[in-house]
Amino acid sequence: MLTLPSGFAFDYANLYGDGKVTGADIAGIAGRIAAAHAAVGHMRATGEVRGHLSKDGVPEKVLFSQLPYVAAGNLNSPESIRRLKDFGASLRHRTDAVIHFGIGGSYLGNRVLFDAHCGEFWNSRSPEERGGYPELYFSGNNLDPLRTDDLIKHIRAAAAEKTPYRLLLVVVSKSGGTLDTMGSFMVVHEALRQVPGLELSVVAVTDPAGGDKATLLKKLANDSGWPTFAVPDGVGGRFSVFSEVGLVTAACIGFDLDAFLAGARSMDQACLEGDPRTNPALLNAVLKYLAAANHGRNIEIFMPYADRLKAVAEWYVQLLAESLGKRTDRQGREVFYGRTPVVAVGTTDMHAQTQQHQDGARDKVVQFVRVAAWDSDPVIPDAFPSARELTKISSLRMSQALDAALEANAQALAADGRYSAVFHLPHLDAFHLGELLYLLALSVAYEGELADVDAFDQPGVEAYKRIMSPKLAALKQAGR
Ligand code: PA5
Repeated sequence: MLTLPSGFAFDYANLYGDGKVTGADIAGIAGRIAAAHAAVGHMRATGEVRGHLSKDGVPEKVLFSQLPYVAAGNLNSPESIRRLKDFGASLRHRTDAVIHFGIGGSYLGNRVLFDAHCGEFWNSRSPEERGGYPELYFSGNNLDPLRTDDLIKHIRAAAAEKTPYRLLLVVVSKSGGTLDTMGSFMVVHEALRQVPGLELSVVAVTDPAGGDKATLLKKLANDSGWPTFAVPDGVGGRFSVFSEVGLVTAACIGFDLDAFLAGARSMDQACLEGDPRTNPALLNAVLKYLAAANHGRNIEIFMPYADRLKAVAEWYVQLLAESLGKRTDRQGREVFYGRTPVVAVGTTDMHAQTQQHQDGARDKVVQFVRVAAWDSDPVIPDAFPSARELTKISSLRMSQALDAALEANAQALAADGRYSAVFHLPHLDAFHLGELLYLLALSVAYEGELADVDAFDQPGVEAYKRIMSPKLAALKQAGR
């Protein structure tokens, strides 16, 4: 178990040792571990990553590791944080609802912050119960016509109940032209802009470049007078939760963005050493890399035991899939690298996926996430004393039963030589969430180096886009 002073811990007992990843496995790549650590150190200091090119084929810096450090002249500065907080304060007791438009890296981190902080029932709470912060809805994460229409109807109905009804549309797109995001935004904007009593405003979050390089969204914002926040250069979508992309959502819901960045910073500081035994991101990368390369564990099930953390698993799917799912290494040789990420939630998926984890192919690592202390933790009552079987669990706190389920799952897997590990969060809060997300982001940077693949590009997503664009053009032509 590697435990940090904050209480965050990585328990890798079921991933390392006899019959698992061994000391000999690690010794066998000692030189590569040292090189990976040096390369990530260089990335942290300069933003340079060997061989990394932008979508346009030009060298591009990788700057996400600078985001936790708030200082004048940095990507997150005291002024930018102040502006975000002012923005959040301007919504309190004033704005009724926010709709966030974004997809992929412009959505998944935002969803993590929303779920962790707000839970499932935020939008049905009163403004007072929300601390004066607005309701928040997501759109643009799909092109689903029915859900989009449902959302429009829901907002129209709310606006019919309250006048004026103040709605803010937050449109997030680094490229500024993503079909899903912009298509949904246009549908919703058009449907709501003339609803009587509904006051509509828009904020855009996009690449800040101006002039010829301005994104479509940036141009629209300039022409329409919408305020903007920035997706900084050198910060890819899947790493952008620590930038204004994620922090805008944090500001909208009163999530503690200082603590979130402090958690990321604290994890960065905990990951400075080159010894995997003391550096949790390097340790995670080394063990998962070796579990796949030497032991065939090519699937990673990310399984938080907390409903509010399901979105972390979804965020991690993108992080792992886009960062490490690569056809070629940096020498251009075909390697078809990358573990397949899978979303699971405990205890829910113990009643669905665990059969496969326990008895299916031995090709998985199950990565559990445990929350140690809960803000609410009901005791299971002895509600039906005549039902003897049920009295077995009465008087236990729900979290005790949840922990027992996680431990039993890990033990059953281990007893059959199956690999798992646990991230322990002392508490579900902004600080520890910042630690967890940052650890995972830094870990894929290390693993990219170990596997010698570019963890910061995603050329594979261009293939379908090349086919889809002409299809859309043909559809439009046919409709004329
Ligand atoms: O990680 C990525 O680059 C992608 O998932 C993008 O975040 C996603 O495609 C959305 O792109 P954009 O922010 O340009 O709209």
